Amino acid sequence: MARFEALLTSSGSELLDRLASEAGAGGGIGGGGGARGTAGPRQALRLGTRLRVDYPTDLVVDALGQHELRTAAGAKFSRAMEMFFTRAGLEQASPQVVAEHTASRYAAGDTVADLCCGIGGDMLALAGHHRVIAVDVDPLHLRVARANADVLGVGGSVTTVLSDVRDVDLAGADAVFVDPARRAGQRRLRTGDSEPPLAWCLELAGRVAKVGIKAAPGLPREAVPAGWELEFIAVGRDLKEAVAWSPALATTGTRATLLPGGHTLTPAPAGYGAPAVPVRAPGEYLLDPNPAVTRAGLVAELARELGAWKIDERIAFLSADAPIRTPFGRPLRVIDSAPWNQKQLPARLRALDIGSVDIRRRGLAGDVDELRKRLKLSGTRRATLVMTRVDNRPWGLTCLTDE
Ligand SMILES: C[S@@+](CC[C@H](N)C(=O)[O-])C[C@H]1O[C@@H](n2cnc3c(N)ncnc32)[C@H](O)[C@@H]1O
Repeated sequence: MARFEALLTSSGSELLDRLASEAGAGGGIGGGGGARGTAGPRQALRLGTRLRVDYPTDLVVDALGQHELRTAAGAKFSRAMEMFFTRAGLEQASPQVVAEHTASRYAAGDTVADLCCGIGGDMLALAGHHRVIAVDVDPLHLRVARANADVLGVGGSVTTVLSDVRDVDLAGADAVFVDPARRAGQRRLRTGDSEPPLAWCLELAGRVAKVGIKAAPGLPREAVPAGWELEFIAVGRDLKEAVAWSPALATTGTRATLLPGGHTLTPAPAGYGAPAVPVRAPGEYLLDPNPAVTRAGLVAELARELGAWKIDERIAFLSADAPIRTPFGRPLRVIDSAPWNQKQLPARLRALDIGSVDIRRRGLAGDVDELRKRLKLSGTRRATLVMTRVDNRPWGLTCLTDE
């Protein structure tokens, strides 16, 4: 802790500023020379040696480490170069775009208890609009969270509490957000396990009505009681997390949210009499739904919204005869569609002038790398080869991505 405090002193911040300007904010040091122009280990050594003339060795070592973390954190936080991190804290931190979305689900003016705040990924977004009681059992994480709140100018809205969340009095909180740890020290916990466990987090709703629980995106629907909303959040096509919202915050049973656009898909209101989605052979277009839509169980909902059909009862591809414009999936134009025949495939692709393929496999076994090697393509066009099932028969589709 004393070593972290040293980074917050005037020499510490002077040294971090110097690193940002000498090593460059866009690149790390000692990263082995990467695509973003990172300096190599030799350069890092030279810089370290030079800095040790002016600063204590421990401070230089820690500042170099902090600079490295800040550089990596640029992928999650817009002001990463001003913030502080631990390696584990950064790995577990919610990206800013996700944290801002989840924070927006709490009513303005609510005091929110951020249980298991870590280095403050969620806390910082909450503190933009709410008073926050930030709790963590790890003194270093809590100290880093406090430093981040101060640096980003929201310190006045945040009270930090060093405690096991199980021992915290929630009397002053109108709402709770909890992001339990999915690792113990260096060790990842088993899938579905967390600290504190999900059962404890769910019981919070008996003490404070408005509760949001962040969980891994693999969280099964059955793990959450009736009346709770399960929201699956993707950034682009990258499924990031699931958040369970207690009945006081839930507005639907399940939801797919796509960031940064903020598009959200929910089921039609119950009793609306949603018609079954037909299953038919592929048409001119194929739609690969966003993983958040698939995880939320909303593929049929999306099909109804788009007037599309399924190509198989159990496969999450949709199809239509007109171009499909939606943020909820990636459209592909079908140029060849036939029962799967690996022997004939190279000839079929050659006839279509295909020179390279992305292979997307769903519902069909096979070694994608091995297949790619065997295709020996030489054409000029790039295509997506979809290995899947149509009406439960192995099927291959060659598609182009329409711009
Ligand atoms: C997933 S991280 C939180 C990340 C945070 N939401 C963010 O965006 O930066 C989980 C945190 O829970 C803390 N933690 C684990 N068990 C705890 C407990 N029983 N009481 C309080 N904090 C705990 C860990 O120290 C860790 O900082």
